[in-house]
Amino acid sequence: MKKSIRFAKISAIGSYVPEKILTNDDLSKMIDTSDEWIQARTGIRERRIAADGQITSDLCVEAARAAIKKAGISAEDVDLILVGTITSDMPFPSTAVFVQSKLGLQNIPCFDYNVACSGTQYGIALANALLTSSDSYKNILLICGDKMTSVVDWNDRATCVLLGDGAGAAIFSATEKEEENSVIDVLLGADGKLWELLHVPAGGSSEPASVKTIEDGKHFFKMKGRDVFREAIRIMEGCAREILQRNGMTVADIDFVVLHQANLRIIEALQERLKIPDEKVCITVDKYGNTSGSSCLIAIDTFARSGRIRSGSKILSVGFGAGLTWGAAILKF
Ligand code: UT7
Repeated sequence: MKKSIRFAKISAIGSYVPEKILTNDDLSKMIDTSDEWIQARTGIRERRIAADGQITSDLCVEAARAAIKKAGISAEDVDLILVGTITSDMPFPSTAVFVQSKLGLQNIPCFDYNVACSGTQYGIALANALLTSSDSYKNILLICGDKMTSVVDWNDRATCVLLGDGAGAAIFSATEKEEENSVIDVLLGADGKLWELLHVPAGGSSEPASVKTIEDGKHFFKMKGRDVFREAIRIMEGCAREILQRNGMTVADIDFVVLHQANLRIIEALQERLKIPDEKVCITVDKYGNTSGSSCLIAIDTFARSGRIRSGSKILSVGFGAGLTWGAAILKF
């Protein structure tokens, strides 16, 4: 029920990547690849790998704790948890309920959403809508987390070199002060006809897990790399242009551009098309690879911790992923 005029302020962003580093040289000892090929085609130097037994909800909890601490609140102040993931702990229940119990919370609503690498942008839209449409919530915990290595085929050199594990989190707090509003606009989209470009074929109701699906490797991440590359550039360029235009803005009005961290060549192509100067672009794909929906939150947090993104900074973030899904958000910190 709507009572007062409310805005969503991002009180804090936090992130977590596992300690274990897997370098391109490490990979070249496992499969037929090289540091030179991976760096030239993707810009990735290394990625983080979850420890044995460390699952998606564990990554999410670490990122959540970092955001909660930075926001200066306690876990008990959180009154809704959203988790964007495509590598949930189990098919059901949601990863969000595991995060809730690991944070020592109970009763508050929790749910997952599945939009792959557009997780940051869809999550911003969801948190903003829930917070501003009623007086029910004061602090919403948004987390995007994935243990992508749980769906990686380590024998498929075209995909295994790209992915890494990690999580990002944000606290959205209700405020009645318009000047504290962080979410200037969000734009979302999807095209289900293109689902085949990125997917895990088995383990769902269309093809439940069986000895045969395992033998056929259908529990692994599949990708049509070249098509994804082309669509990523086309769609993210369109998204960025549309959200800037409908807000009467240009790249000159934006301090930092945070694009989905999948491949440095995709980021560079967009930089060129949208005329984004180097100093405005946040890059973490070199260190973490593609961490799916968390990649933009991790990049924002990384650049905030280095002191580059500050209070008042305007950020344009654009994501793209399996579905296909896409989204863009303009934020003010
Ligand atoms: O969140 C969204 C998820 N994914 C993406 O955004 C990925 C989008 N796609 C890409 O980033 C690129 O398509 C890749 C990095 C996956 C591949 O780069 P590419 O320049 O499109 O290479 P390609 O697939 O056209 O392959 C070129 C060659 C092939 O050899 P042949 O057929 O020319 O002999 C591949 O077998 O490179 C070979 N290749 C490799 N060689 C060494 C593919 N992967 C590797 C590898 N190491 N890891």
